[in-house]
Amino acid sequence: MDIYGIIGNPVEHSLSPTLHEAAYDKRELDATYAIFEVNTNRLESAIQGAEALGIQGLNVTIPFKEDVLKYVQADQLAEQIGAVNTIDFATSPPTGYNTDAIGAKHALYYHDVEIPSQQFLVIGAGGAARAICYMLEREDASITIANRTFKRGKRLADELNSRAIKLEDVTEISQNVDILINATSVGMEENKSPVPPEALHSELTVMDIVYRPLKTKLIEDANASGAKTIDGAWMLLYQGAKSFEIWTEYEAPIDVMNAALRNYIEETSTTG
Ligand code: ATR
Repeated sequence: MDIYGIIGNPVEHSLSPTLHEAAYDKRELDATYAIFEVNTNRLESAIQGAEALGIQGLNVTIPFKEDVLKYVQADQLAEQIGAVNTIDFATSPPTGYNTDAIGAKHALYYHDVEIPSQQFLVIGAGGAARAICYMLEREDASITIANRTFKRGKRLADELNSRAIKLEDVTEISQNVDILINATSVGMEENKSPVPPEALHSELTVMDIVYRPLKTKLIEDANASGAKTIDGAWMLLYQGAKSFEIWTEYEAPIDVMNAALRNYIEETSTTG
């Protein structure tokens, strides 16, 4: 049996087992996906142990996405972002990928959203925002970053040759933007949006990375404004699909994975 899993701390509420096991069932693979909570100072041993045990692949989550770069050969995109969320043990040393970035790209393309030459407004400047922004830059998008802590947003914008604005200026700037992405945790199990409803309009596409609840306040406000919306399950789905494809070399059964993920989120949601 092939063994895959996720390392993180905390990690017990991960949705990845649901996502991946739906795909193993559909493709009739003799595989399983486990959750490994790793002591924060045992990352190196965990990676070496996984390799020695013949584990095929690992996802990586908080707080290890950056530190894990020391123990894998990261591909160019993951290296640029400075974070790895997928390790493939088929190579030696293991290869590190960032499928969060790829997941965001596929979520947009699946919804027929063009990326090249489009004006993107990214809210946030943390790890998720970095992954999304580097992907957008690769795809030749025009990027504006609005972060609560302006300096952090400016730092990311300077790395990318894009611009940073203050979060207070989002409403004005968003009038001339094509796609707005929430890359913060605002809205996670709370009825809050990172931007005021006035920032949203019918010419806009709005993508959220928050998936609990699926209908965040941002997504509801965006629907009310007539904007096109892409909820947080899409990026999660496509990052998992990409990891599955890297590891198994089978095509990911997107529909089955999507249904399993959405059912699980709905079933385990506390905010309705
Ligand atoms: P992740 O790796 O999940 O992106 P992170 O690196 O902690 O997590 O980044 C969280 C992002 O959400 C940051 O952009 C953060 O803004 P700051 O840089 O100002 O901390 C943003 N964020 C978190 N809570 C927020 C809030 N209540 N309002 C606005 N932005 C918030």
